[in-house]
Amino acid sequence: MSHILVINSSVSGDASVSRTLVGDIVRGLIEAQPDVRLTCRDVDEEGIPHLSAVTVAGVRGVAATAAELATRDLSDELIAELQAADIVVIGAPMYNFSIPSSLRAWFDHVLRPRVTFAYSAAGPQGLLTGKRAIVVQSRGGLYSEGPGKASDFQEPYLKQLLGFIGIDDVTFIHAEKIGFGPEARELALAGARERIAHLVAELAADPA
Ligand SMILES: Cc1cc2nc3c(=O)[nH]c(=O)nc-3n(C[C@H](O)[C@H](O)[C@H](O)COP(=O)(O)O)c2cc1C
Repeated sequence: MSHILVINSSVSGDASVSRTLVGDIVRGLIEAQPDVRLTCRDVDEEGIPHLSAVTVAGVRGVAATAAELATRDLSDELIAELQAADIVVIGAPMYNFSIPSSLRAWFDHVLRPRVTFAYSAAGPQGLLTGKRAIVVQSRGGLYSEGPGKASDFQEPYLKQLLGFIGIDDVTFIHAEKIGFGPEARELALAGARERIAHLVAELAADPA
């Protein structure tokens, strides 16, 4: 039985493209493997707090105060969800050329020295190996090709963050030109759904 962790971060609720496509992926995975275990985190709705001077020791130091201990507890909880998952599905809209700050706050809690990554003589080493990630990237414009490509600080950043904790097997599903009108939006959704159908079929054929 696979365990899937689903992270959504769009601020657009039911109108969100990334949430819609993440839903498609999850439905497809459940159809392929009905006994799948699901854990869902909505970092927009739940509002993962940003780290501050009052809380940062909870993830990057020795927690002592109540605020630091609460931060460490949240970090422990989020990391436990990640450690338990075989597949992580992330809805990551492009905001200001990168990711939503709520998703960044989630990463700030799960990139934790000696727990999800370690420094070794050979350099940093990710400790969450053997997992697969599927990331839906919804974008108002076009960044996978053409002049916009140089402004894509979303995909390289997500690749770096996930790779840093050992998740190297990442599939990106793009839904681009969402801001180019209803026709472009439908085209983007259809293209993304086609890629999702292939991916789900591939995962069903080889669940490992
Ligand atoms: C705060 C904010 C910032 C955005 N910044 C960008 C951007 O830098 N580039 C872009 O192409 N689209 C940008 N957009 C548009 C979104 O990427 C687009 O609407 C996408 O569909 C959002 O995903 P969602 O529908 O899952 O929320 C931005 C939207 C918001 C709300």
